[in-house]
Amino acid sequence: MLKKKITDYNKNFFDEIKNSYAILTAGDKNVGFNSMTVSWGGIGVLWGMDVAYVFVRHSRYTYKFINESDSVTLAFLNDNYKEAKAIFGSKSGKDINKYEASGLHPTFDPDYNGYYPMEADYVFKMKKLYSIDIPYDNLPSDIKDKFYKNGDMHTMYVCEIKQFLVKE
Ligand SMILES: Cc1cc2nc3c(=O)[nH]c(=O)nc-3n(C[C@H](O)[C@H](O)[C@H](O)COP(=O)(O)O)c2cc1C
Repeated sequence: MLKKKITDYNKNFFDEIKNSYAILTAGDKNVGFNSMTVSWGGIGVLWGMDVAYVFVRHSRYTYKFINESDSVTLAFLNDNYKEAKAIFGSKSGKDINKYEASGLHPTFDPDYNGYYPMEADYVFKMKKLYSIDIPYDNLPSDIKDKFYKNGDMHTMYVCEIKQFLVKE
């Protein structure tokens, strides 16, 4: 992987996250790690830092790891890995080893004490800065009805993008 400046990022993020999805991985050598598919999130600037925002429901196995560790990666794989992304978005790491089931390979980055799938075209290596539970009561009623009827709320994580890696 080549280390690039974040200002070299030249993709359409809306298309990438919404239509191609990303694999979010949280955890480190001490607590272990887990990965799941995400299609909600954003990138931007906050507190003078390059950041990404991700949203994880409390029922996800990944929720445990993102709370226990500051190491978070957002990895984008092309659509040759559509099936793998479907597995990471429908099966839980509580029940199966999704890497074995999908044929993807987790890479450990020792500089950073975090993981990402080796097959990614590009990766944001990030440090969790802040998290906040989405408060049910403040939401518009149509959003409550559409997304939170079962009470499985999201937590929003703000993560600093520490490094932008691109496949060679
Ligand atoms: C296309 C797609 C996008 C998803 N986006 C999110 C998301 O942004 N946040 C979230 O909490 N779950 C999202 N999910 C659901 C999780 O990926 C799914 O529940 C997964 O099985 C959780 O795995 P885990 O239990 O191993 O963490 C998405 C699923 C798919 C298929």
